[in-house]
Amino acid sequence: MIQETRTAIVTGASRGIGAEIARQLAAEGIAVTVNHANSPDAAEAVVAEIVGKGGRAVAARTDLTDPAAARALFDRAEAAFGPVDILVNNAGTMKVAPLAETDDAQIDAHVALNLAAPLRLMREASRRLGDGGRIVNLSTSVIGLYQPGYGIYAATKAGVEALTHVVAKELAPRGITVNAVAPGPVGTDLFFLGKSEALVEQIRRMNPFGRLGTPEDIARVVVFLASEQAGWINGQVIRANGGVI
Ligand SMILES: NC(=O)c1ccc[n+]([C@@H]2O[C@H](COP(=O)([O-])OP(=O)(O)OC[C@H]3O[C@@H](n4cnc5c(N)ncnc54)[C@H](OP(=O)(O)O)[C@@H]3O)[C@@H](O)[C@H]2O)c1
Repeated sequence: MIQETRTAIVTGASRGIGAEIARQLAAEGIAVTVNHANSPDAAEAVVAEIVGKGGRAVAARTDLTDPAAARALFDRAEAAFGPVDILVNNAGTMKVAPLAETDDAQIDAHVALNLAAPLRLMREASRRLGDGGRIVNLSTSVIGLYQPGYGIYAATKAGVEALTHVVAKELAPRGITVNAVAPGPVGTDLFFLGKSEALVEQIRRMNPFGRLGTPEDIARVVVFLASEQAGWINGQVIRANGGVI
């Protein structure tokens, strides 16, 4: 049975898409654990904004590249709000470079945060989410483009999509759904890093809507998938990108 007050963990919620997911979930009355690794002030600001509007939230500093992080994050969330109903695997990193120009550290950083962390968190969620729970993973629409420079990033997100399909079937008997949202370009730190204004403009024009996505565009989809109304959507990847791909 779902608790009266539902609770969520949002990874990487100190800024960008994750912060907006945390805000929108809290606006639905859900108690949110706002995870981050390196931005305590930003995470506390997200928490303060939510609490200031009458919501419930707590910051949880946990570096998800640590193999012990998944268990620690669930422990922290449960201590704050009780059993977890919703896990949003949002934290991610992206550095664009042709494979020949990458080093082991770049491969390891992407695999650790974008793939191994959601894998461990989904395993933890499989053990600890209540019946009727929700898992929403962040993938990316660049998987469909096979663009040069995106190899490591796209490979880690393809792994997340594979896990989404498998774990969806494993958890369905308990009424838990597992889905992914695959945004196109969204105006956040992750997207702007290393791009010239000319390149940003070119990407903006590629979209049929003539603009980048916003964290709000993406968070709305995540919140719907996390809702009780979305119970018949399972094992799906929603490409929220304005129709660019
Ligand atoms: N922006 C886009 O165009 C776009 C497109 C498609 C998919 N996505 C996906 O959407 C998700 C969110 O992206 P975004 O653009 O919002 O990124 P962002 O603005 O760079 O934010 C990344 C978040 O992840 C957190 N984080 C980084 N390293 C962490 C770690 N080791 N442990 C825990 N948290 C960590 C960051 O917090 P701290 O720095 O405080 O640790 C921050 O809150 C990612 O999975 C990304 O791949 C983004």
